[in-house]
Amino acid sequence: MDDLYRRLPPTGFAPRAGELHAEGVPLSAIAAAVGTPVYVYSAARLRERVRALKAAVGPLGVAVHFAMKSNANQAVLALMAAEGIGADIVSGGEMARALAAGMAPRHVVFSGVGKTAAEIAAALDAGLHQINVESFEELRLVDEIAGAKGRVADVALRVNPDVDAETHAKITTGKKDNKFGIDASTLGRLDNEVKALPHVRVVGLAMHIGSQIMTPAPFLTAYGRVAALAEELRRKGYPLTRLDLGGGFGIPYENELEFSFADLADAIRATVHGRGFDLSIEPGRSLVADAGILLARTIFVKDAGGMHFLVLDAAMNDLVRPAMYEAHHDIVPVRIPAPAAPTVEYDIVGPICESSDTFAKRRRLPALAAGDLVAIATAGAYGATMSSTYNARPLAPEVLVDGTRWATVRRRVEVAEQIGWDQVPDWIGPAKPGQRAAE
Ligand code: LLP
Repeated sequence: MDDLYRRLPPTGFAPRAGELHAEGVPLSAIAAAVGTPVYVYSAARLRERVRALKAAVGPLGVAVHFAMKSNANQAVLALMAAEGIGADIVSGGEMARALAAGMAPRHVVFSGVGKTAAEIAAALDAGLHQINVESFEELRLVDEIAGAKGRVADVALRVNPDVDAETHAKITTGKKDNKFGIDASTLGRLDNEVKALPHVRVVGLAMHIGSQIMTPAPFLTAYGRVAALAEELRRKGYPLTRLDLGGGFGIPYENELEFSFADLADAIRATVHGRGFDLSIEPGRSLVADAGILLARTIFVKDAGGMHFLVLDAAMNDLVRPAMYEAHHDIVPVRIPAPAAPTVEYDIVGPICESSDTFAKRRRLPALAAGDLVAIATAGAYGATMSSTYNARPLAPEVLVDGTRWATVRRRVEVAEQIGWDQVPDWIGPAKPGQRAAE
C-alpha cells in the first residue's frame, strides 16, 4: 500500500514501536483510559502551525485571529492565547469561551451575519477589538446600542468581493448571491447614510470568501478588490485603517497540493501590504485540522452481499464532515500492519440509522477485525465543534497530548447527563412504569 500514514503530521502523530502514537503517547493507552470515540489533539503540532503562520505573516505586520468555530475547546484556546494570537468569534457563546480561556478582549473580533442586540451589547461591554458588520441593518443596530451606552463603536464593514473561491458550495461565502457581507455597489450608494450614524466609526473593511481554498488566485483577486475599495472609501473621507482578510486557507486532506503559509504571505505582499493598513487574518482550519484525529474502535466487520463494512463506534454525530460535505478523511489502523498484510476494500460507517452515516466508501485498508482501533485523520477542525447528540449518543471527549503528558480536556458528556437537560412539564406528568402510549 502507499504510505498509510502520510496525511498525519510527524510532529503530532507517528507510527512507531508497533502502533500509532500521539507525540509520546500510544493511542491505545488513551483509548483504554478514556474509551472511544475520542478526539485527540497534539499540542506540539498546534504550536508548530501557529508559529509557522506567525513566521510567515508576522514580518508583514499581520495580526492573527483564530476562527474558533473550527475548534473551541478551552485548552486549545488557552494554547492559542499563550502563543499570542487572538480569536475570531461568531456568537456570544464563542465570546464567552474565548474570554474564559484567557484571550484578551482587544485581540477578539466579532464576525457573523446575524448578531443579536444582546450579543452586540455584550461585545461593546467586553471591549472587543472590532465588530465586523455585515449589513446596513446591523450597522444601524450597532449605532443604536452604542448610542444608548454613550459610546462610539469601532466597526469594520464586511464587504462581499464577489469572487468564486472554487471550493465546496456549502462553504463558499464571497459570491454576490451568498448571504454574507455588503456588496461594493450598495456601499457606494449608502455613503451619506453611513456617515450620518454618530455612534459607529467605520475603521476598516473585512472579508472572507470561503473555506478550504487551495490556490492563491481567489485570494489575490479578493484582496486586491478590497484594498482598492478601502482606498476609494478613504478618498471619500472614511478613517479606514484596518483590513481584515478573513480565513479560508486550505489544507490537504487527500492528495491536494498544499496552499502554504508562504503562499499566503506572497498573496498578501502582492496585494494589500504596504498600502497603509493594519492587516489581520482569521484562519481556522489551517491551524488545527491536522493537529487532531478522531480515534474510534471497530465494532463489527460486516461482510454482506460482496461488501465489507467496517462498522465503527464513531458516527456522523461525532464527525459530520463526510456526511455533510462529502469530505475525505484518511482513516488508518492504529496497530501498524505488517508490510505484506492482506488488504480489503471497506465501506467505513458509523452505527447511526442513516445511509449518510458513512465516513468513506470503497477504501482499501489492511484487513481489520472487531476491536481494532482506527484513527480518522485531519479531524482537528470542524470536528468536535460540529458534533451533536443525534441518536442519543454521548458527546465524544477530547484529549490533548503534549509530549509524554496528556489530559482529558473535555470529558464525555454521557446520556444520563443529557437527559437532565430536558424537562417534562407537570401537565404531561412523569411517565408511569408499565403505562402504554395508547392508553
Ligand atoms: N472567518 C469567517 C468570517 C468565517 O466564516 C470562517 C469560516 C473563517 C474565518 C475560518 O475559515 P477557515 O480558515 O477555517 O477556512 N464547517 C466547514 C467549514 C465552514 C467554514 C465557515 N466559515 C467544514 O467543515 O469544512
